[in-house]
Amino acid sequence: MNRKMKRRVSGLLIGIAFIGIIVLLVMTFSDGRHSEYVAKAITLKHDVDEPHAEIARLKRQLALLKKKGCNLEEDLISLPVIFAVTPTYARPEQKAELTRLYQTLLLVPNLHWVIVEDAEAPTPLVKNLLASSGLSHTHLHAHTPPAQKLKAKDPHWAKPRGVLQRNTALEWLRSDGPLKVAPINPDGEPLGVVYFADDDNSYSIRLFEEMRYVQNVGVWPVGLVGGLMVERPLPSSDGRGVASFNAGYKPERPFPIDMAGFAINLATLRNHPDAKFLYEVQPGYQESQLLKQLTTKQELEVLADNCTKVYVWHTRTDKPKMREELQWKAQGRPPSNQDIEV
Ligand code: UGA
Ligand code: MN
Repeated sequence: MNRKMKRRVSGLLIGIAFIGIIVLLVMTFSDGRHSEYVAKAITLKHDVDEPHAEIARLKRQLALLKKKGCNLEEDLISLPVIFAVTPTYARPEQKAELTRLYQTLLLVPNLHWVIVEDAEAPTPLVKNLLASSGLSHTHLHAHTPPAQKLKAKDPHWAKPRGVLQRNTALEWLRSDGPLKVAPINPDGEPLGVVYFADDDNSYSIRLFEEMRYVQNVGVWPVGLVGGLMVERPLPSSDGRGVASFNAGYKPERPFPIDMAGFAINLATLRNHPDAKFLYEVQPGYQESQLLKQLTTKQELEVLADNCTKVYVWHTRTDKPKMREELQWKAQGRPPSNQDIEV
């Protein structure tokens, strides 16, 4: 082989090697891109299936980035969310109660309404009310077992009310649910406070600003409850929590206080995963049953101007009389509310 031939052969070999490298590179990249597309498709499918869970995960990652010193915009950090938990059940006055309540809650910034129906399935009445309310909300349901349900002739205190419904809300509050609606702290935990807002009480909007920054458990007076004008915690003179309570009804209870008289930091509930309400406690002991698992009298945060202001009233709605309605029914006449939601 002369020099010219040698040069041609080596040129050819270099050319082949070059083309080989190019082919290899193209294969590698297209392969990579292909798997990227597959991954993207899976993520997208995942997004479509579970958009809220995805947002929750991203929020957590944001929080972790921040912890690592990443400078996030100040506006990402907003007010702790008030999670108002309301058990509710079907009866003639239900829509009136819920309308009154949601129109109060609309006046409270950063509030998320956790409404738990005492029903086998969510009802259209509550579903529609929530949809038209404009409130950020979660709609849950849990049916009280028949053995625990009040009978028509029972006095209202014969059975505890709202037990299963509030426990269902507690489960949700300990899930990823709140991550989708609350700001997240640097540990990736949602910032919020939980309040058990029954559907029949009367609330001042001032109450909600009192409770927003509760660190563990905050307490305040409740009007028109327990046979008194006001039941209230009596603050310790040394500034350490509550010395006693002025309750008249069962004052021997560990926490003689109504459900409307306290709020709990969401982290406290998430750090005590077993704390819940129980059917197997004496009448009037639901509040104590929960609170004794979470706090002590000395740790209670005394709110509403040292427990001297009333911002919530334990009102109860009179059962509407349906005498004429029943008569109409007996006479075979259609109900007054036929095709009308009342
Ligand atoms: C008092 C307290 O204020 C309640 O928070 C507490 O649950 C109750 O005592 C108790 O010891 O069990 P009271 O006004 O007598 O409350 O109770 P209701 O207002 O009749 O019921 C409390 C909540 O549970 C309401 O939001 C109501 O809609 C709901 N509820 C009531 C149900 O979900 N299902 C029922 O069968 C009855
Ligand atoms: Mn009530």
